Amino acid sequence: MARLLLGVSGGIAAYKSLEFARLATLAGHGVRVLMTDNARRFVGAASFEGIVGAPVLTSEYERDPMRGAFPGEEGERTSHDPIGHLELAANCDAFLVAPASANTIAKLAGGFADSMLTTSFLACTAPRLLAPAMNDRMYADAATQANLATLRERGVEVIEPEEGLLASRGERGRGRLPDPERLLARIEAVLSGGQAELPGVETAPVETEATLLDDDRGPAAIGKPLASAGTGPWSGLRVMVTAGGTREPIDAVRFIGNRSSGRMGMALAAAAQRRGAEVTVIAANVSLPEPAGVKRVDVETTAELAYETLERFETQHVLLMAAAPADFRTEPITGKIKRQDSLNLNLQPTEDILAQVAAMRSESQTVVGFAAEHGGDAVDRARGKLERKGADLIVLNDVSDPTIGFESDENAVTLIAATEEIEVPKAGKDAVAEAILDRVDRLRAGARTAK
Ligand code: CTP
Repeated sequence: MARLLLGVSGGIAAYKSLEFARLATLAGHGVRVLMTDNARRFVGAASFEGIVGAPVLTSEYERDPMRGAFPGEEGERTSHDPIGHLELAANCDAFLVAPASANTIAKLAGGFADSMLTTSFLACTAPRLLAPAMNDRMYADAATQANLATLRERGVEVIEPEEGLLASRGERGRGRLPDPERLLARIEAVLSGGQAELPGVETAPVETEATLLDDDRGPAAIGKPLASAGTGPWSGLRVMVTAGGTREPIDAVRFIGNRSSGRMGMALAAAAQRRGAEVTVIAANVSLPEPAGVKRVDVETTAELAYETLERFETQHVLLMAAAPADFRTEPITGKIKRQDSLNLNLQPTEDILAQVAAMRSESQTVVGFAAEHGGDAVDRARGKLERKGADLIVLNDVSDPTIGFESDENAVTLIAATEEIEVPKAGKDAVAEAILDRVDRLRAGARTAK
């Protein structure tokens, strides 16, 4: 258990901090919350108090009824009434400000001490983390960036905001507060002095709401049980599936793409969810609906797929890399290229996402790649990919057979791991997905007994 001090400043993303407080408390940490006045315009102190079981402090002149103690701490503090605004900062193991608004970041960079949050931040010698969340233009502005650079220089860890839909209607950009699970994984990693510890298959089910679509999240969603906060053998596991095929724009209307429909990826997502896992699908140009309760993130290009996958990978137990990323990109031309006798495009290779995630995974993570090979020595080539990319398993399908793969509802695959090959005969994609997950189960059981 750690004593976590959570500073909440004013921003719509403050509702996600409630979920952070809930997850951190569930994970056994003692959480105390400091709010700025503006934060209270977005969420109520009573909500935090109910979740963490301790009073919220706003003003540095307010007396802390708990005298600087954290929930779950042993012993009473009766002999001495401490200086309120210094005590929590002195007692915490880590201090996270989430969301950190542009205004609060500016104050912290300037060393202001005009609220309980800013005063405590200044007085805190434990690891300090900031999770900025704001409009993308405010985030990109030179003032905000300079303030963050100053704070980084002083040893404050900045958890980068994510790209995606922003609160202002119809706007996308970098400025979203990362999911509370990621914030917690990050703070736990800092506390353990290294990589985030991910639970293995045998861990107790994690009660989580992460399967709600991001944009459905809001105060009303908090506390609701989830469709997929599942029961089943994979309850407590987080599974990420990439699906579909990426597109690299050539001009305003044309792209380099491939025929991947996302059917296999969606079948895998549904199968993992049936087993009780918490599932995220990163969908590249997939027109199919995702299974109910599965979180979906839509992407178009390989760079976007890489970004969304790498950002989330740290908190996942299993990655099923079923997407077919375009292997080349070109510098897109503005407007529409006119018909002409010949056209030369300078194609550059895209990043190999699978190899990148495999290189950064921990022992408790399982990484599965897919290989679409065309006849010949397909198995040898797929085995080569297993080794080259560092995956635990490669799912090979031979695309020279027109009755399987791509838009088809059926598939036939060979599952290639370091020690064995298993043929999964032609069947519906749901049945093939189950066979893949059975193999993942065995790999994870093997990894545990090998420890
Ligand atoms: N993959 C990836 N990033 C890429 C290309 C592929 O992560 N830029 C992943 C795919 O999602 C798949 C695996 O790597 O899980 C194998 O994909 P495949 O296209 O068969 O392999 P390539 O690396 O493209 O190799 P080749 O073109 O030589 O077949």
